[in-house]
Amino acid sequence: MSSNAPDMRVQIAGVELQSPVIAASGTFGYGVEFEEIVAFDRIGAFVTKGLSREPMQGNPTPRIIETASGMINAIGLQNMGVKAFVEEKLPKIRAMKGAVVIANIFGYTVEDCLEVIRVLNDAEGIALYELNASCPNTSHGGIAFGVDPGLLTELVSCTKAVCKRPLMVKLSPNVTSMAAMARVAEEAGADAVSLVNTFVSLAIDIETRKPRIANVTGGLSGPAIKPIAVRMVHDAWKAVKIPVVGMGGIVRAEDAVEFMMAGATAVQVGTASYADPRAVENIANGMLRWCSAHRVERASELTGSIVLP
Ligand SMILES: Cc1cc2nc3c(=O)[nH]c(=O)nc-3n(C[C@H](O)[C@H](O)[C@H](O)COP(=O)(O)O)c2cc1C
Repeated sequence: MSSNAPDMRVQIAGVELQSPVIAASGTFGYGVEFEEIVAFDRIGAFVTKGLSREPMQGNPTPRIIETASGMINAIGLQNMGVKAFVEEKLPKIRAMKGAVVIANIFGYTVEDCLEVIRVLNDAEGIALYELNASCPNTSHGGIAFGVDPGLLTELVSCTKAVCKRPLMVKLSPNVTSMAAMARVAEEAGADAVSLVNTFVSLAIDIETRKPRIANVTGGLSGPAIKPIAVRMVHDAWKAVKIPVVGMGGIVRAEDAVEFMMAGATAVQVGTASYADPRAVENIANGMLRWCSAHRVERASELTGSIVLP
């Protein structure tokens, strides 16, 4: 690469990424599974599968189906638990060249989340926490933290108080006003917000008249949600001063550029990794080429550069 190659570095809450393109939670395992597939020094970071206090088996199958331009999943946040992650996966991750790690955290109560953070706080090799606010809160009748301003305030302020690393709050798109929820997260102490998580959806097998997902409903992701996600990122960007990390249906470098123009400081790529495990790296490389071809000197210049009428 010539010396006047575009500067692809971006900053999220004081953490520098060499590219704005990040692998999204739940679609990139614990990162180590991609060691032979993706060049970690080409991508910005990866987000781990959601980590909980105890190991979780997840939901019964079928729990993933393909839809027009997307997929519905109800994995049920299956994971090995935070302690096993720290003991078994983190040492391998630390040995991987160039990998920036974002740990995704969830819990069914605020105390669950605090416990996950306490375990991670003592471990080395993590740059940032991403708190999944789409998880149902069992102490409040299963309402997701991220759809109720009061629950979101409690979750973010309590977790922020124990975090030894910057806290990015991943917002649910299943709300009326993304701007309002982003503001709630910021006021409660979030250092950044990421959005969107998946949209609650339902698909029915019309021959059997049964839901196609055993859990009945699941989360819709992929290109089908992209225009809604871009609009929500733009709404959030207008509402807050903290960085917004955008995602939802990114499959090409041009999609990533679009999210940044809407206001994203960085982007995440999820479902695309199912079709092509190298998608995140390809999108990062494609974005560098796009910036070069369009004489964009710094990728960060793209953020919020939408030209409104
Ligand atoms: C199979 C699958 C599992 C996911 N698991 C998680 C998870 O554990 N935690 C989380 O915050 N988001 C999870 N997500 C949401 C993605 O990280 C992302 O927010 C969403 O899929 C939208 O981006 P995309 O259209 O690029 O996939 C999951 C998504 C999929 C498809």
